[in-house]
Amino acid sequence: MADKLIIFDTTLRDGEQSPGASMTKDEKLRIARQLERLKVDVIEAGFAASSNGDFECVKAIANAIKDCTIASLCRTNDKDIARAAEALAGAERARIHTFIATSPLHMEKKLRMTPDQVFEQSKLAVRFARNLCGDVEYSAEDGYRSDEDFLCRVIEAVINEGATTINVPDTVGYAIPELYGNFIKTLRERVPNSDKAVWSVHCHNDLGMAVANSLAGVTIGGARQIECTINGLGERAGNCSLEEVVMALKTRRDYFGLDVGIDIKHIVAASRMVSQTTGFVVQPNKAVVGANAFAHASGIHQDGVLKARDTYEIMRAEDVGWSTNKIVLGKLSGRNAFKQRLSDLGVQLESEADVNTAFARFKELADRKSDIFDEDILALVSDESVTHEHEQYGFVSLSQHSETGERPHASIVFTVAGKEVRAQSDGNGPVDASLKAIESHVKSGAEMVLYSVNAISGSTESQGEVTVRLQNSGRVVNGVGADPDIIVASAKAYLSALNKLQSKADRVAAQG
Ligand code: KIV
Ligand code: ZN
Repeated sequence: MADKLIIFDTTLRDGEQSPGASMTKDEKLRIARQLERLKVDVIEAGFAASSNGDFECVKAIANAIKDCTIASLCRTNDKDIARAAEALAGAERARIHTFIATSPLHMEKKLRMTPDQVFEQSKLAVRFARNLCGDVEYSAEDGYRSDEDFLCRVIEAVINEGATTINVPDTVGYAIPELYGNFIKTLRERVPNSDKAVWSVHCHNDLGMAVANSLAGVTIGGARQIECTINGLGERAGNCSLEEVVMALKTRRDYFGLDVGIDIKHIVAASRMVSQTTGFVVQPNKAVVGANAFAHASGIHQDGVLKARDTYEIMRAEDVGWSTNKIVLGKLSGRNAFKQRLSDLGVQLESEADVNTAFARFKELADRKSDIFDEDILALVSDESVTHEHEQYGFVSLSQHSETGERPHASIVFTVAGKEVRAQSDGNGPVDASLKAIESHVKSGAEMVLYSVNAISGSTESQGEVTVRLQNSGRVVNGVGADPDIIVASAKAYLSALNKLQSKADRVAAQG
């Protein structure tokens, strides 16, 4: 029988650490449900001790998801570990994931600890965690740049204390596939009790090699867990991308010879959900999930594919969920068809009343736009007025005037804590005028660091999906809004970003 490879998804923890990718509890729950449909083995739901908000997210996911192991990250101190265990109490299968840096640079400059102190703290942390949970992962942060002798000593000790998984991250994306694979191999050969734990890889993508490094950790090093994220989301250049590494393992099973439990037909829906939730647009030429990943533009390729698909296709688009990328509903579709489509997309609304609200929004949209695609439905249910996230700011209506040679003007009505307010402003363009109108009332003082518009389903008839990234007092958030009118979409995105800034401020305050 082939070995099983564990897929550990950290979209909701490491992925969320990308600047602006922070997600609300409802958004995280929705993604966790999609990860469960995808059949990932482990979902890292967050870092419970980092804030009350994160604690609540881990707890909600631990209570809701039954088919995956749920992990919470924590530092190697008792308070963090106990908080993780508390958040995970409702999980069918829980994992405490404790980490500390082991490289000379991180120990000296960041932790200001001696190697002996890190050694002792690692042992005590794993001992304490094992008393609370049977499944404990130990991560040596910046493991790849750590001293080999020291790392062997630490790993042997934590396995003796009961660590069940040993993770050796390439935290800064510095590794080269062959070198990383050999590093893991050497550690496994040198640590006397290495066979008592599963070995794991966690690679960042700073040099674009996270997937290759992870695979080398498996083939050369003998690791049997890969840590990854949907769309490769993560700190800086991101993490190993789940869809790429999984499709490499599945497509080249002849070479890897490993079993991966992922149900690949949900990959595209998961990718879209993460992109629409975080506002991180997927590049068109991204492997597996990019809009062009299966598009054949050149005549020679098209001709070849028409004659025999495998001339230019090594994977089938429909196998990873692209077949669902078609007109799915229209004006005449009923509530049941709509509900069925939501369920096919992995969207679970909280109550029948929420389904009714979403259906009413769907009908409004179908009146304005003849063909409704999956992307439209996902954008619609991400809308805060459907998800009932009790937000500070909500969009009501907007009018604007722009004409060649005149300065555009916008008037907007929106809610602040449930009460309607009106504001107006001029601007360089109609979008600028609308956002300035909101800001003239809210006075957030936030700086806009990114504004992008994307046609959800490719044509001018489609909804525009706008991402607005705001920065204020060191906090960075992305707001996303969708509407066939891109000025309205922009206003919704701006209000959504203001809501996230507000909820992030609450999270930080709750910590103190
Ligand atoms: O990159 C890293 O080292 C991490 C650890 C906390 C696992 O994310
Ligand atoms: Zn990481």
